Amino acid sequence: MEEEKDFLPLLGTDYVEFYVGNSLQTAFYYQTAFGFQPLAYSGLSTGNHVTESYVVRQDKITFVFTSPLCENSKVGKHIDKHGDGVKIIALSVLDADKALKETALRGAVISLDFEILKDADGSIARSGIKTYGETEHYFIDRTKYKGDFLPGFEAWNPTYKPKAVGLKFVDHMVGNVDWGEMNIWAEFYINVMGFTQLVSFDDKDISTDYTALRSKVMSNGNGRVKFPINEPAKGRNKSQIEEYIKFYNGGGVQHIALATDDIVSTVRELKNRGVDFLYVPSTYYKTVLDRVGSIDEELQELQELGVLVDRDEEGYLLQIFTKPVGPRPTVFYEIIQRKGATSFGKGNFKALFEAIEFEQSKRGTL
Ligand code: FE2
Repeated sequence: MEEEKDFLPLLGTDYVEFYVGNSLQTAFYYQTAFGFQPLAYSGLSTGNHVTESYVVRQDKITFVFTSPLCENSKVGKHIDKHGDGVKIIALSVLDADKALKETALRGAVISLDFEILKDADGSIARSGIKTYGETEHYFIDRTKYKGDFLPGFEAWNPTYKPKAVGLKFVDHMVGNVDWGEMNIWAEFYINVMGFTQLVSFDDKDISTDYTALRSKVMSNGNGRVKFPINEPAKGRNKSQIEEYIKFYNGGGVQHIALATDDIVSTVRELKNRGVDFLYVPSTYYKTVLDRVGSIDEELQELQELGVLVDRDEEGYLLQIFTKPVGPRPTVFYEIIQRKGATSFGKGNFKALFEAIEFEQSKRGTL
């Protein structure tokens, strides 16, 4: 799609907001384990008596962790139902009013009416619509704002600042939806948000003895925002997507893929800081080079870390997946380094899902 014909031009992911039980400790975990830097705060000391939020940033990735300060709140109910999870995927736009009007015209359900927030650093224009589950997209125009995050937030500048680990930007964010809903949400991204479908996988591509799923990868016009959508498919036993849907109580964000340009050093550092990754069977490395051809990295090093490799027509990619980062088997992370490849690691699905099933069997949820 050419930029001028794109009715919803997106500049990229502005921020991702999680609703969590303990925003302070979650921010501490992302600082300590993932190397995010403290950025901004909203809570009692800024006059916010409803929620407390900590904002952290690493290069172009901004995460917000929000907890309720009182009972029976919108945030508290979300956490009770879903556990800690992603509530808002905020997208950068140049015109938040037009973004809302264009998507509402095409059937979007509005979750946040157009509004302008102001403080001494300027103004932010924003609006929002609903997507799968209880997840929302916000449209954020920060072209008239000089502050670090949003009006109402103050700088958060503690002395504790573990170093960054080389994470650069959000490569893609995957949504899990319930049985039979993948096409509904794929069409939502096409019809309401002007996305196109890059690829699709069905249960013949993605199935092991147990896990089966279907997936469609949706991309906006300039390719900066990519949302694969998964739904469960019938396998011999419970699909990992079904497990997610059960514990999340519906559709939601399954994983966020964070890009690095040196996966070996990033993953080594994450492991040193206690991040748990999925186990990859050693047999994977016996045949991987037959499948992907020659690569720049030392295979021995990739095997020690458990980094996976896949190739498409345009190049190759390196990727690795964490275990879920909370008590429920829901949200996890992918660390990805692209060396030309624009795909998502289809060749790794089987090896990967066998690893996920190994974890599921330990949880007794297969
Ligand atoms: Fe992914």
